[in-house]
Amino acid sequence: MSKLSENERMAEYRPGVFFKIPKKFGKLELLIRRSTQIFQALFSARFSANSFLEEDAELRYNHQEELEYYKAVAHSGLTTEELAVLNHLKSRGQSLRNILIVGAGAGREPFYYAKEGYQVDALDINLEMVEAAKNISKESGLDVNFYHGDQSFETGRKYDLVHISFAITSHIQGRKNRVKFFKECFKHVAKDGVMIHGFYDRRVNESLRFRISSWILRMRWFFTKREWEPGDTLISSVGHHNSSDMLSYFYFYESADSIKSELREAGLKGEIIHRELDSNSRLDEFWIIEGN
Ligand SMILES: C[S@@+](CC[C@H](N)C(=O)[O-])C[C@H]1O[C@@H](n2cnc3c(N)ncnc32)[C@H](O)[C@@H]1O
Repeated sequence: MSKLSENERMAEYRPGVFFKIPKKFGKLELLIRRSTQIFQALFSARFSANSFLEEDAELRYNHQEELEYYKAVAHSGLTTEELAVLNHLKSRGQSLRNILIVGAGAGREPFYYAKEGYQVDALDINLEMVEAAKNISKESGLDVNFYHGDQSFETGRKYDLVHISFAITSHIQGRKNRVKFFKECFKHVAKDGVMIHGFYDRRVNESLRFRISSWILRMRWFFTKREWEPGDTLISSVGHHNSSDMLSYFYFYESADSIKSELREAGLKGEIIHRELDSNSRLDEFWIIEGN
């Protein structure tokens, strides 16, 4: 990893995995930053344009810092939550020969599964992520098929396990769009196969900042007829770990029941396997999703 500049510090992503993030803000910087963000939330034309959500999804990951971050964690393996789910599936005798990852980034989940001997395919909508993942795969001799495409991309195969990357559902606005997303992901699942996904919960993440930005969004969408839901909000995550002032859209689920009801509408059912409703773990709820 390159040397730290004076505005950077090292952070531990999870035990033993380090990467660079910007130093904490001073009081004045924080004030400027928050004022800029309030101004954006209130007045930026982006948040009322109809093309906003598509552009937002592009902008979020088309960012050098994002790419560098996901490259840096590509060999860090599955998280505690993801491992808990995988172990649960193994312990109930689930057949797990081949796996598809939707939203693979630079390859973190695919590389773990490939090292464990599974046959792995991976999708990502961001071309640069896919190219980075292919390079890492070549360098490390790991056999993964990386494809550039979203959940509707046809690989021509069905999978025992479809691992939907954490955060993806939080980039999709509107219940009906998320229902469609789950249906499209489930088309990849083989008979008796399953999907897994980590959902973000509003109760863990809610704060004054959350409520203010969510209400501003509601006001702005009132004039553009975009339907607002309680978990719709704006957060500063473009450029990894809040290193950018730019706000982007994020959806937080209301509760486990709201997740269940959305899955039901997609013809699926879900079960919580790992849950950390505390402020240290933002992953919140990790679920197994199956056909009805
Ligand atoms: C939060 S990042 C996680 C990357 C990787 N799973 C990891 O943990 O290192 C989410 C990734 O999903 C991709 N993505 C977002 N929506 C997607 C979609 N609908 N289909 C495929 N990839 C998507 C983004 O380009 C991004 O690389």
